[in-house]
Amino acid sequence: MENLPLFFRLRAKPVLLVGAGAAAVAKCRLLLAAGAEVRVVAPNCLDAIRDWNAAGKLRWERRTFDPADTLGMTLVIGATGRDDIDTAVAEAARWAGVPVNIVDRPELGTFIFPSIVDRSPVTIGISTNGASPVLARRLREQIESLLPANLGSLARFLQSFRGAVKAKFPSFESRRRLWEEVVDGPIARDVLAGREPAARDAMLSRINRRRDSEPVTGHVDIVGAGPGDPDLLTIKALRALQDADVVVHDRLVGDGVLALIRRDAERIYIGKARSNHSVPQDQINELLVEHARAGRRVVRLKGGDPFVFGRGGEELERLRAAGVSAAVIPGITAATGCAASAGLPLTHRDHASAVTFVTGHGVDGEPDVDWAAMAQPRQTLVVYMGVSRAESLARQLLVHGRSPETPIAIIENGTRANERVVTGTLASVPDLVHGAQVGAPALIVVGEVAALADAARDLALNGNPQLAATAV
Ligand SMILES: C[S@@+](CC[C@H](N)C(=O)[O-])C[C@H]1O[C@@H](n2cnc3c(N)ncnc32)[C@H](O)[C@@H]1O
Repeated sequence: MENLPLFFRLRAKPVLLVGAGAAAVAKCRLLLAAGAEVRVVAPNCLDAIRDWNAAGKLRWERRTFDPADTLGMTLVIGATGRDDIDTAVAEAARWAGVPVNIVDRPELGTFIFPSIVDRSPVTIGISTNGASPVLARRLREQIESLLPANLGSLARFLQSFRGAVKAKFPSFESRRRLWEEVVDGPIARDVLAGREPAARDAMLSRINRRRDSEPVTGHVDIVGAGPGDPDLLTIKALRALQDADVVVHDRLVGDGVLALIRRDAERIYIGKARSNHSVPQDQINELLVEHARAGRRVVRLKGGDPFVFGRGGEELERLRAAGVSAAVIPGITAATGCAASAGLPLTHRDHASAVTFVTGHGVDGEPDVDWAAMAQPRQTLVVYMGVSRAESLARQLLVHGRSPETPIAIIENGTRANERVVTGTLASVPDLVHGAQVGAPALIVVGEVAALADAARDLALNGNPQLAATAV
């Protein structure tokens, strides 16, 4: 971060504003809204500042700036639009050790004003660090349009119950659960709809219903993180990540998704590569049960979809057998994510009327697959975990009658910034895998639709003549 966003308490604090034009008026409005004691220094001023001065809301001193004006101030703002004066204001403030902002000259100051969404006491500051004030304004408009008009009333309503809730719910966990239930449920909806008396009654009965000793029950969500791009996460998955006390995740979950986990949630990495199971499945199951029994809200975060080659079924069975509350939140599986990203439809009226997801890796190595059925034309085969066995998979399909000219696409790191798509034919699989040095994670798509893959992008990126020869 170029700048750290902080919220400044200015009530009854002295703030110096040098200049009294339109930019100064805008800043003045904000400072007065924040309760600051504003002192304006300028030889002339606009009517708004004159009126505020007459009404006793600020003090206007009709004179030029003196560096000693900055002494004892909480903040200093230069808004004269004159380089020489603004520079002198910035230097004097820095010398006096007072945070300073110069309007339209962020490089001279020590802090910047964000774009503000004000639903007091809820306030949101947006900054692009001066990269694009128009972008900041657009973001503010979008946020404004998303937030209910009386969000401030809701915040004040919740604030008014903090003491009562703390007295009734001594543990932090139980308080958090209650607040989440209230914010997500009918009580908050009533406040936002202006039915505050009804909400107040409901809140009181909700608080009184619970005894201190009531045990907190845990829960596990088995969540699909998708193939990598964090924008492919479902809204439900995002909410689970934001509510979690503990997140247990594996190697396939991308950094962009991990960044969306609630900041103070515990993260447990149980890295899992095909030949390097760092934590055995039994231990993962036990870990989930243990945390849930301790009353925690657990997210078991898995790459793609938990129920597609993800062992989510085994985890769900174990949790249910242990009597732990559990649910599954689906994710975009690698096949659909990679296909979309590579521009490759898995079914197509002209090319493929069926699609099969198959693992390239069985429990004891070779997958248990009906190769004769898989080798039929006009269907798509998507092979997960198949790269290390790509040659033997291709051989099986050829032996069972699939044409050597059948198009194939290998998608490595699908939907991520480093995605690569390599295309060719079934006969060229060994050359492709070795020539392109395909790494994990990667999917192999076999079938007529693979010819539609967007190979041009990969060729442009690689400029590899060997690949160019085999790509469509
Ligand atoms: C253990 S499986 C997990 C599949 C996951 N549950 C899903 O639904 O996508 C791991 C395999 O998924 C495929 N895979 C997962 N993410 C991928 C990605 N971003 N790009 C290409 N293949 C991916 C690879 O074949 C990898 O070996």
